[in-house]
Amino acid sequence: MKKTSLLILAGLFSLQVQAQDAKMDAFINKLMGQMTIDEKIGQLNLVTPGGFTATGATVSQNVEENIKSGKVGGLFGIYDPALVRKPQELAVKNSRLHIPLLFGLDVIHGHKTSFPIPLAISTSWDLERIEKSARIAATEATADGLNWVFSPMVDIARDPRWGRISESSGEDHYLGSLIAKAMVRGYQGKDWKSTNTVLACVKHFALYGAVEAGRDYNTTDMSRIKMFEYYLPPYKAAVDAGVASVMTSFNEIDAIPATANKWLMTDLLRKQWGFKGLVVTDYTAINEMTAHGLGDLQQVSAKALNAGTDMDMVGEGYLTTLKKSLKEGKVTQKEIDLACRRILEAKYKLGLFDDPYRYLDEKRPAKDIFTAENRAFARELAVRSQVLLKNAHQTLPLKKSGSIALVGPLANDRKNMLGTWNIAGDWKKAVTVAEGITNVAGEKVKINYAKGANFTTDTLLIQRLNAQNGLVDVDPRSPEAMIEEAVQAAQKSDIIVAVVGEAQEMSGEASSRSDIGIPDNQKDLLKALKKTGKPLVVVLMSGRPLTLTWENENADAMLEAWFGGTESGNAVADVLFGNYNPSGKLTATFPRNVGQIPIYYNHKNTGRPYEGVLLDKFKSRYLDVSNDPLFPFGYGLSYTTFSYSDVKLSKSTLKGNETLKATVTVANTGKYAGEEVVQLYLSDPVASVTRAVKDLKGFQKISLKPGESKDVTFDITPEQLKFYNSDLKYDWEAGEFHVHIGTNSSEVKTAKITWNK
Ligand code: NOJ
Repeated sequence: MKKTSLLILAGLFSLQVQAQDAKMDAFINKLMGQMTIDEKIGQLNLVTPGGFTATGATVSQNVEENIKSGKVGGLFGIYDPALVRKPQELAVKNSRLHIPLLFGLDVIHGHKTSFPIPLAISTSWDLERIEKSARIAATEATADGLNWVFSPMVDIARDPRWGRISESSGEDHYLGSLIAKAMVRGYQGKDWKSTNTVLACVKHFALYGAVEAGRDYNTTDMSRIKMFEYYLPPYKAAVDAGVASVMTSFNEIDAIPATANKWLMTDLLRKQWGFKGLVVTDYTAINEMTAHGLGDLQQVSAKALNAGTDMDMVGEGYLTTLKKSLKEGKVTQKEIDLACRRILEAKYKLGLFDDPYRYLDEKRPAKDIFTAENRAFARELAVRSQVLLKNAHQTLPLKKSGSIALVGPLANDRKNMLGTWNIAGDWKKAVTVAEGITNVAGEKVKINYAKGANFTTDTLLIQRLNAQNGLVDVDPRSPEAMIEEAVQAAQKSDIIVAVVGEAQEMSGEASSRSDIGIPDNQKDLLKALKKTGKPLVVVLMSGRPLTLTWENENADAMLEAWFGGTESGNAVADVLFGNYNPSGKLTATFPRNVGQIPIYYNHKNTGRPYEGVLLDKFKSRYLDVSNDPLFPFGYGLSYTTFSYSDVKLSKSTLKGNETLKATVTVANTGKYAGEEVVQLYLSDPVASVTRAVKDLKGFQKISLKPGESKDVTFDITPEQLKFYNSDLKYDWEAGEFHVHIGTNSSEVKTAKITWNK
């Protein structure tokens, strides 16, 4: 199409949008003209009825009465069209102005068809499938009466002690931003009025992943440069992708909790980034500002509204104090109107004023939810979301014959397959690893099963893990008896597959750990198994990177399977038996021990970098552990091997807006067809501010047959050289740059260039 025709089309489109906006404005102006102050404040109230998964101490009271009197803007925590219809009818039929409700839920990694946890999905580096997972989740969620999901969670996490790293895409902002965009596209589609798209909600704005010591809900404190360079980009990416809503985080930023942080919610989010949607708090985040030390409920509610926070999740601070604050001049009518307008706009854009019941088709669940197709996709995604950490002597893939000692607390467990935050997922429908192995390997493989160990022998921990949903079963036998049974199973088998790691509730919200190894009793099991001399395959399930030094030294093969969702067991078996050749690459560094944390690939060089000379005393290093992680960012093996050529450059000196082409030839040098994520990193050794040793700037996932090779070319432009300088200006500086291409962040081929302005 010619440029002029494109311009005309763009012009027509923008006219159409303006006309639609004018229509919406007219509708909302008229409606707001009829609303009392109580009704306006009522729209700012998001409630959750008791009996559903609550993530805080408070649950909403008098929900029915409040809906009828126009004191509720939205509900979260319920799903199923028949259930959702009741409150929607109450709002539409009984409230004075018949304003429909929003219905939200934590749909995090799939709705009823559970996909792997977000950290796992990110290790696929497969943006198309990630987008599709959100698309399917939206279809299932809307079929269940929902129109709003509290996802994507895009917090950058460099500390695996933080349990919510499981909900994140790991430590890198470049990959995290691409995933954020893909998820928003998947959820919201192109048309918000379609009945299989939902409003997305990017969270937790901002910096929640940087809580001190990895302890959930703890303090965050960081420089602006670090914020802009590393932590804010994924939220911004979601905003650029048109995300409908933003959730505030619990933590403080520059000593002001995010929920009352005007700089964050208004200056940055709205003025600088142009966000036009609604801002909702996290669960009782307004009320929690009293404990933060910002004043009583009236004070903190006023501060949140002043900052630009529109909707109050559960706490009812807005509902109970804003009118008083208005009278006392602590908030303005304009602020209340603006927040109310943003919520009404979301409802309008969803088409709820045309038809409040548009997501409530009771025939849809049977047709759209947990379909064979969705499950097949869950398996397809789960096989791609596992990372092969070790494979000595090509222990894997397993043969589909002979005998396997299948042991470990997760080997035949169903309750812990889905992973954290699967509100609507049904663990009873998940596939166990034992079932998966039978499904994939068939009758020719004899399984000698023994549980071998409970998740932990710490009874207090078990009580805490079971406090909410009781997913940890305890075998009453002694640890010794269980180990003995497992050893016997091993002795009569050709190979051992030990499925060990965390119970689902050991990661996720409010599940920080200071020791991120597998629990001691499971390690005792592995030690006993090792002594049998049989080949030992360790399959790990966890919601975070673990410390695995002993396991790495002693296991023959290690596969990190995370929590794989509904199809977990089938997907693990697909990989173990080579139906799928693993291609996942870590998106969060695996430390050697907890003392190395925070540990991440894009660290600074420091003034005294340690260069491996042991007796060099005054260097930045530890006396008792190396600086290197156990497994670096981007790491992951395949059943085949890949070789990389040196980096070939189209030029070594460039100027201005030129494009550099950097190419490597990647060859499959092994026996299996496989996929490889070829990673591009750049570094800037001299700049006006200190820079990271390298930053991810691109990747390509390629497939290669045995013996095949491909040229992989990255186009590099000055855009990729930009960074935030000390004036927070995003620009690049002329000079030398290093181009690194490789199989992970530590193993790269490097070429140098000079780029002038
Ligand atoms: C608290 C969590 O921090 C947030 O991620 C979630 O969306 C809300 N609870 C609602 O369940």
